[in-house]
Amino acid sequence: MYLDNAATSFPKPGAVTEAMTHFATRIGASPGRGAYDASVEAAAMLHDTRASLARLLGEPDPHRIAFTLNCTDALHLAIHGVVARWRRAGEPIHMVTTAMDHNSVLRPLNDLRHDGVTHTRVDVDPATGLVHPDAIASAITSHTRLVCVVHGSNVSGTVQDIPAIGDRCQAAGVPLLVDAAQTVGHHPIDPAAMGISVLAMPGHKGLLGPLGTGALWLGEGMTGHITPVRTGGTGSRSEDDVHPTDLPDRYEAGSHNTIGLAGLGASLQWLHDQGLERIEAHEATLTARMLEGLLPIDGLQVHGPHTTDHRCGVFALTCAALTPAAFATALEADHGVLGRAGVHCAPGAHATFGTLAGGGATRLSLGQSTTVDDVDHAIAAVRAVVHHAMHAPMTASTGAHT
Ligand SMILES: Cc1ncc(COP(=O)(O)O)c(C=O)c1O
Repeated sequence: MYLDNAATSFPKPGAVTEAMTHFATRIGASPGRGAYDASVEAAAMLHDTRASLARLLGEPDPHRIAFTLNCTDALHLAIHGVVARWRRAGEPIHMVTTAMDHNSVLRPLNDLRHDGVTHTRVDVDPATGLVHPDAIASAITSHTRLVCVVHGSNVSGTVQDIPAIGDRCQAAGVPLLVDAAQTVGHHPIDPAAMGISVLAMPGHKGLLGPLGTGALWLGEGMTGHITPVRTGGTGSRSEDDVHPTDLPDRYEAGSHNTIGLAGLGASLQWLHDQGLERIEAHEATLTARMLEGLLPIDGLQVHGPHTTDHRCGVFALTCAALTPAAFATALEADHGVLGRAGVHCAPGAHATFGTLAGGGATRLSLGQSTTVDDVDHAIAAVRAVVHHAMHAPMTASTGAHT
């Protein structure tokens, strides 16, 4: 039973592989690189995928979507693009993020310290993982160029109050970059209405597309704030040896992952047909059921919000009698439940919950294809593993003492 959807969603809808196979075997050409039918068809596919993602975000202009390799790549473009813009202007650069953010934000920010870019990491409530919007506002200085906040935590499922944070950023005149790795495709997101300036997304998690896909949505006026970090061939304005400024080419140098984007187009259509509100309601039901089943288990700690408010379907579990690795191994070996043990590329989140020194937690994460029976099976498996560890901590199957 696959419960590692926070890493990448599985299984994907059948239409995804069909669209990829169709593109790979029947089209194959690079979009915008030729006037022959296959290239024109590839360009139409690319446009349709872009338009479908824009529709999902309530964005009328598909050109505001730039395709990337994954969410890390989208975050990298936004962060380094803002740095490049202000560095060219010779201005000091400060950024704000939170303790819950992923290494795909923390590592670029720490790396940029060597180049004089400073940042403030705002602490969060250690029980829920929620950041107070006023704490973000207090961290903003006159040199703050970007606030980066993860929407849904990939550790505890904590969902931040983005509209309130967006209000504070707008009041301070600082753009807000949101990492929607764990929420896009699971919840309806209207970035413009939520006060978001730039939204980074993977195509391969909640959007149900293949690995190797991602996107950055750019709000009104953001192109002036984000200098391209990769320049090169675009198939457009080839007579010009200076990178084009029009969207989306401004941020899409080089040949696209067309096979992946054909698959993403199909998954976006599937999501549209299902309806995001329906998906959100289904996942909220499963999340409530998980909490109801997990919270009473003696010897189990569930980190993050204990109610469905400000929460998505990602659960970080620990048991004092088991290492996270032994916990995950027992869930898989004895019950066929596939989760992920460790620190999940989010050391700040684990430090917040006090789980960093113990090797992190065992994570189970729901997806669009998870059923009520799956949830019941996962709860029973967790209960059995924890019970066994608490009462027979020396046995090999729990792996305690490893
Ligand atoms: C919160 C969060 N941000 C960013 C990423 C990076 O996403 P990707 O694997 O698409 O680069 C992940 C991946 O797990 C994530 O959970």
